[in-house]
Amino acid sequence: MKRVFTLLLVVGLILVGCGGQKTSNTLSVGTSADFPPLESIDENGNFVGFDIDLMNAIAKQMGYTVKWENSDFAGLVASVQTGKYDAVISGMTITASRQEEVDFSDPYFRSDQAVVVQNSNTTIKSQADLADKKIGVQLGTTGEMLARKLVNANGKVFTYDSPDQAFLDLNTGRLDAVVNDLPVSSYFLEKNSNLPLHIAFDIPTDEYYGIAVKKGNTDLVTKINKALAELKSDGEYAKLYKSWFGQEPPTQ
Ligand code: ARG
Repeated sequence: MKRVFTLLLVVGLILVGCGGQKTSNTLSVGTSADFPPLESIDENGNFVGFDIDLMNAIAKQMGYTVKWENSDFAGLVASVQTGKYDAVISGMTITASRQEEVDFSDPYFRSDQAVVVQNSNTTIKSQADLADKKIGVQLGTTGEMLARKLVNANGKVFTYDSPDQAFLDLNTGRLDAVVNDLPVSSYFLEKNSNLPLHIAFDIPTDEYYGIAVKKGNTDLVTKINKALAELKSDGEYAKLYKSWFGQEPPTQ
């Protein structure tokens, strides 16, 4: 009887051990799922988008599975710093100031900014025209930094938790313009073609998105970069890019 008990105990411990092993193969990844076609949550509650597919593929290549976590964009960098998430993928531009707080993978996507206005607007044609305007942006984004540089004392920047909220306020006339990443703005306008909004012009900011990890976690960055390079060379990256953006990725 005692033997059986010991045996059960040993088997139990092994099972618990395996369970533990499984957890350590999980990568907790934060994203602000308000940025289609890069990241959003579909009607079934699943995380979907180019970033989601890419990170799942990277993790798979590394022998991990992703545990997705949704959060406001403005809080993502801090959550990587404190270790709440192992990594963040969120259309996040690699900037010098963010590089002081987190480490980034190699760039995986190039982007610019777009200025969206109402169709009836005929006055906003260039960056200078934005100086005295009411501009909506997503809080904590490169769009916010840019808008703050463009306005003078007569203009004002309004921050929103998500780009969609800014677009809706633009639609009701509370804002004169929205400054937001180009691929996401064009996607929004395409999906909401009933709204009388359009892109007035692009601002070629030449931004590159990267995957953020805790500062000093070179082991994880190295693994991510290796997986990313493999996905690029085996055609998987191009496949994902095509499926979300309908065209071949730019050659760079
Ligand atoms: N690329 C911009 C930035 O890094 C905006 C990113 C916003 N991402 C999001 N998932 N809402 O600031």
